[in-house]
Amino acid sequence: MGGQSCSRAALVLLLLAGSWQLLAQAAPLSDPAVEARVTALMSQMTLEEKIGQLNQFSAGQPTGPGTGRTDYGEMVARGQIGSLFNLSGARETNHMQRIALTRSRLKIPVLFGLDIIHGYRTTFPVPIALASSWDLPLIEQTATAAAEEAAKEGVRWAFSPMVDIARDARWGRMTEGAGEDPYLGAAIAAAYVHGYQGERLGASPSSIAACAKHYVGYGAAEGGRDYNTSEIPERLLRQVYLPPFRAAVNAGAATLMSAFNPLNEVPASANRFTLSQILKQEWGFRGFVVSDWTSIKELIAQGIANDGPTAARKALLAGVDMDMESGLFLSALGELVRAGAVPMSAIDDAVRRVLRVKFALGLFDHPYAPDAPAASGLEAGHVELARRAAEESVVLLKNGDASHAPPLPLGSQVHSIALVGPLGDSAINMLGSWIGKGDPADAVTLRAALTAYAAQHHLQLTTEKGVEIIGGSDAGIAAAVESARRSDVVLLAVGENAAEMTGEAASRAHLGLPGLQKRLVESVLEAGKPVVLIVFGGRPLVLTAISDKVSAIVQAWFPGVQAGPALVRLLTGEVNFSGKITVSYPRAVGQEPLYYNQLNTGRPAGNVDLSHPPQNSDEKYVSRYIDERNSPLFPFGYGLSYTKFEYGPPAADHPSISARALNAGTAKLTVEAEVRNIGARDGVEIVELYIGLRGTSVARPVRELKGFRRVALRAGESRRVEFTLGRDELSFWNVDMHDVVEPAQLTVWIAPDSSSGSSVEVKITE
Ligand code: BGC
Repeated sequence: MGGQSCSRAALVLLLLAGSWQLLAQAAPLSDPAVEARVTALMSQMTLEEKIGQLNQFSAGQPTGPGTGRTDYGEMVARGQIGSLFNLSGARETNHMQRIALTRSRLKIPVLFGLDIIHGYRTTFPVPIALASSWDLPLIEQTATAAAEEAAKEGVRWAFSPMVDIARDARWGRMTEGAGEDPYLGAAIAAAYVHGYQGERLGASPSSIAACAKHYVGYGAAEGGRDYNTSEIPERLLRQVYLPPFRAAVNAGAATLMSAFNPLNEVPASANRFTLSQILKQEWGFRGFVVSDWTSIKELIAQGIANDGPTAARKALLAGVDMDMESGLFLSALGELVRAGAVPMSAIDDAVRRVLRVKFALGLFDHPYAPDAPAASGLEAGHVELARRAAEESVVLLKNGDASHAPPLPLGSQVHSIALVGPLGDSAINMLGSWIGKGDPADAVTLRAALTAYAAQHHLQLTTEKGVEIIGGSDAGIAAAVESARRSDVVLLAVGENAAEMTGEAASRAHLGLPGLQKRLVESVLEAGKPVVLIVFGGRPLVLTAISDKVSAIVQAWFPGVQAGPALVRLLTGEVNFSGKITVSYPRAVGQEPLYYNQLNTGRPAGNVDLSHPPQNSDEKYVSRYIDERNSPLFPFGYGLSYTKFEYGPPAADHPSISARALNAGTAKLTVEAEVRNIGARDGVEIVELYIGLRGTSVARPVRELKGFRRVALRAGESRRVEFTLGRDELSFWNVDMHDVVEPAQLTVWIAPDSSSGSSVEVKITE
């Protein structure tokens, strides 16, 4: 007896200790201690002070139509501002913070935000490039580095990650996200959130709040035209567009940004279904939602409000907590509450969310940026990280074919190199769109890095720009051709202009090389030398006409400050290529939107892909274009290496598995395949797992990514790569809109990309 009661007491103690620990470790946004501080503060706030917390203004360079205001200091003193952005530098943020903490009645600190998209001072590769690394720890490290640099200047909120799924390369903002796949997009979203926020929001001075954006469906803009309508049925929304947001929320993201686009006729910034029902109720999100730039005011143009107050009311009641730049929460909410049009509870909920994030972030305890003078140069560790990130982001799309010997890596047979093209020496264009506090002066171009390499290795290097990126004259083409003629190999650096052609408000109807660059390529090809096309840009370009003619294609994206050194190390083979593309490359703009995880048709085109025009009715009455293939030029998940990997057939540990057990979480399927490095060089292979389900209550995509691994293999080495599939990987939103595993015929591929590889069949029984 005595022994038992003693052990019971011990158990109670243990439980108590355990629950105390649990409390101490509660997710910061659910921490009772935070909640108590919020409640205490809110009990002292007037309605006006509460509304004050719900406004955000850009106090620096505008990134959208400006408000014309400049009196932010006075507004902070009056308690009318919860957050400011586009303000950076410890002195600047501390100055504004001092106003909040000395002159405002309640001394609530200002939360400073910024578009930290791929770095703060140190510019890393653009997100679509980083995604091509499929390296989650690497992506996380770049976000951590950005957070460290930003927090030192008082910026504690990144408007990142952009987790919009982008299936249409016309959309300029494809460059800001992880590409077309929801599974990879979700994994990358979580990596960014962990990187910015750290293990626990606010646990360190360099933990900054993440903002998953743009919620939701912004990437599905019709025609790829920015800000345009998105029509996304609920099943598609839940299966393709929402998963990265959900992953960000599950990873603890403190904030989300509501998008510009109308979503199924209800603008995303007034969409109660997505903001309140899904995000806040179903997912239990406890952070806050900021609108996108004037997206509340834009509800008027979008046709669901005839005046500012109505726009403010609709946005707030739908679930937007903070107004970026419209000024409508500030001007209208007070009167709306007094008139009974907006309940006080809605204001309180929004204010609680904003203050919760500020407390959890530690802003009340450490409101100021450290006063240390800003370091003038970049941190060596961050530069090194930027180089490694670029090396993993650049993708080798072609290296030789039946009519061209592989020109890469540049070996001892090369004595002279012609670097041609408008992107060979353009520092600003190495950085990409949204460069935060990045400085083109820090960017090392391909020309700069190649010059150093050529000097060391006694190579002759000539550089000719040839043409401008956009427009310009063809006067430089002749000299470019001449330099090609006099060299052993041509590195042809072409592509897009970062600021004008990629990012926000940069949709393109034509996806070829801009300006006179195609002419430059064709002219240089006439010199008859091996041409390595190095393509910079923020999206896949249509390279169909030239891809067969050049000897190699390197997709360089906008690789960041270490562009040149990373490219030289890759081109010379000092490091191996490992990146794989996360967007499908169109052969023609007319294929867009283009993505691998499409549904099958009743008339799949199968292998008639090649014949133009169709030879007979079997070839004609199938789902195809009469003038172009269906397939992409390069498929999702594709990328080459200097070595070769061979995949063995996948094997599953069960020939069949029960849907019931999968749904209950009591069964899992293990699938593995042997991957062997059969080349002569060490390399890293991104091994991809895809599934296909047939016989289900709704049609499922022909393939869906459900796993991936980066596997380092020395020359000759092989490894069994194993994946586990359970409920999370095999369930989908069925015909009754339940997220379940159904009995089905399951095909599993373990493959190097989305269009090849062998598979194993597994039956999913009742
Ligand atoms: C963009 C957002 C950005 C915001 C603030 C908007 O125009 O859509 O992605 O975070 O501006 O600069």
